[in-house]
Amino acid sequence: MSNKVLIRNIVLTGYMGVGKTTIGKQLARELGYRFIDMDSLLELREGRTIRAIFEAEGEAYFRHLESELCHELAMWRGYVIATGGGALVNGHNLAAFEKANLVVCLDCDPEALWERLSEAENRPMLDSDNPKARLFELLVARQPAYAKIQYHVDTSWRPTEDVVADICAFWTQANT
Ligand code: S3P
Repeated sequence: MSNKVLIRNIVLTGYMGVGKTTIGKQLARELGYRFIDMDSLLELREGRTIRAIFEAEGEAYFRHLESELCHELAMWRGYVIATGGGALVNGHNLAAFEKANLVVCLDCDPEALWERLSEAENRPMLDSDNPKARLFELLVARQPAYAKIQYHVDTSWRPTEDVVADICAFWTQANT
């Protein structure tokens, strides 16, 4: 009898703007899996936007909801899950997923990220008089946490299908 853990879901994480949702939807289509975006599910359940949650309750409350959802989703099966960019910075959340899910961190060049995020208004973590400096600062602060994730794929200046192919290769490797 094999001791291998059955991998339940593919979890895509990484900084804001790396492409978790776009890549995740394409990957799910390719594998015939369902796709779930953690933040969208949270907004649906709370009946308000992530920004409204941050504004009314503060970041700590949002992180609490996010953490509960990570532990819940870690038990689902057959999904491609896109986390929020800060969700797996918490080591407990990462550990919950890593027990039986393939966790892949998407990486992206900071300038490419800024190109994608400079117009975004739905990212409360970037609220600042100098959002570009804030984006770089937070990215640097999170690097040690992202570095703990086993699988990484670069998404800067690369077509979606190439990124999806890399993740599929990890998926095959994890299942054999
Ligand atoms: C956050 C990223 C956001 C969302 C929230 C906090 C973060 O998700 O969860 O605004 O701390 O990086 P995206 O990565 O999908 O933008």
